[in-house]
Amino acid sequence: MAFAGKRILISGAGSGIGRVAARALADQGAEVILVGRREGALRETLAGARIAALDHADEASVTTFAQACPPLDGMLLCAGQLLTGSVESTPVEAFDRMIAANLRGPWLLCHHLGPKLKDGASVVLMGSNIGLRAIPDSAAYSVSKAGLHMLAKVLALEWAHRKIRCNAIAPGPIHTDMVDARLAASANPARDLSDLAKVNPLKRLGRPEEASALALHLLSDESAWTTGTIIPLDGGADAVY
Ligand SMILES: NC(=O)c1ccc[n+]([C@@H]2O[C@H](COP(=O)([O-])OP(=O)(O)OC[C@H]3O[C@@H](n4cnc5c(N)ncnc54)[C@H](OP(=O)(O)O)[C@@H]3O)[C@@H](O)[C@H]2O)c1
Repeated sequence: MAFAGKRILISGAGSGIGRVAARALADQGAEVILVGRREGALRETLAGARIAALDHADEASVTTFAQACPPLDGMLLCAGQLLTGSVESTPVEAFDRMIAANLRGPWLLCHHLGPKLKDGASVVLMGSNIGLRAIPDSAAYSVSKAGLHMLAKVLALEWAHRKIRCNAIAPGPIHTDMVDARLAASANPARDLSDLAKVNPLKRLGRPEEASALALHLLSDESAWTTGTIIPLDGGADAVY
């Protein structure tokens, strides 16, 4: 029970990586607080857990929530969205949506909940390997995730005097609703799925359990000397030129 007595907030806990991690943390003794927009999805993750149904990019909602939030031992910020398109083909509204969902939201949670973090807490941000390396057709998402990676580094510096750590994970494609939605919009889902798997040396998509396992390591005291780093989790794609 590595997380017995620890209170951890998980955003994006209503599906995908956040849901798997929330259940794993609860299994290991954590008291979890689940954040996402859909209350029903959060309840489905863990009936009986404390939930906060809110849009993390809405400052009024985050402020109200933060005022009532008890002290935290950690945060795993998974909430995010994906829109595809190049710089030229992406309307500014879509760009704004990517920045809101992937950067403004985590920023606001860290801004308002930073004072609630206990000394020695750990914060994990879910970035993306395409926030590290450019690929065609995901411009606004990639830019927003690159900003999120820098947020992890900045917070690692700012919180170090309180022994609070902050790291980001940069996953390649993980088979969740996010990938399924992208495939559903494709003219050739089978080819796109195979293409996604081909780009990494291990030739497969990641599993949400694999992202959750790394997140739990970073949230736990096992990683007590790791802060301000961005860890690729991508079947080796980051190693390939
Ligand atoms: N799957 C991949 O291939 C992959 C690869 C690299 C990085 N990532 C990142 O990993 C994280 C988790 O993704 P996933 O694959 O688990 O996808 P997912 O199943 O779509 O999960 C995303 C979650 O974010 C929540 N969310 C979205 N916008 C929100 C907002 N404005 N306020 C609060 N919650 C919001 C969604 O819940 P509601 O709709 O209820 O709000 C949803 O539960 C994301 O940040 C994603 O960018 C995923």
